[in-house]
Amino acid sequence: MTDYSTCMITQYPTPVLMGKAKPIEDINNDIRQLAERMINIMVETKGIGLAGPQAGVSLRIFVVSIDGTKENARVYINPTIEPEGKVVANEEGCLSLPRIYGKIKRYSKCTVTATDLDGNEFTEAGEGLLARAFQHEHDHLEGRMIKDRLGYAAKLRSKRLLEELEAKYEGNPK
Ligand code: NI
Repeated sequence: MTDYSTCMITQYPTPVLMGKAKPIEDINNDIRQLAERMINIMVETKGIGLAGPQAGVSLRIFVVSIDGTKENARVYINPTIEPEGKVVANEEGCLSLPRIYGKIKRYSKCTVTATDLDGNEFTEAGEGLLARAFQHEHDHLEGRMIKDRLGYAAKLRSKRLLEELEAKYEGNPK
C-alpha cells in the first residue's frame, strides 16, 4: 500500500519529471487515491491537466479538466495517443515549469485510448485546447516538458528561469 494522499506538485528539475513513467498494472484503491489527489492538485493550482510525474509518481496516469473544475475532471490510465490534423503553434505553460511560457507546436486533433478507474478501456477524441492538453500530459509520461519543445528564441528566454529553478532545487533538495 502506498499513501498517495499527500502527494505534492513537483517542479523542474525533479528527476521524476525527466524519466519515462511506468505502466499501471493494477487499478486498485491506491491508484484511485492517487487520481483523487492529482485532481485536487490540478484544481488547487488552477491547471487544466496534471500527469503522474508532476505529483512525484512515475506512473502512466494523467487527469484533464478543460475548464479546471473538479466535476469535469477525467482520469486517463495507460493512455496512448493518435495524433491527427495539422500542426498548430500556441502558447503553453506548465505547472512544473513556473513562469516559462512559449508557443508549442501540437497536432490540432488527437484520439486518446486509455483505461478508467473502473478498469474499462475508452477512447476520446479531442481537438483544440483538449487535444493540446492530451499531448502536453502525454509528453510528461515520456519525460518530455515544454522546455524541450520551445522554439529557439523562447528557449533562450527561458534559460535564466531554468537556471534559477535548478539553483533553487540544489539549494533545497527534497
Ligand atoms: Ni505540464
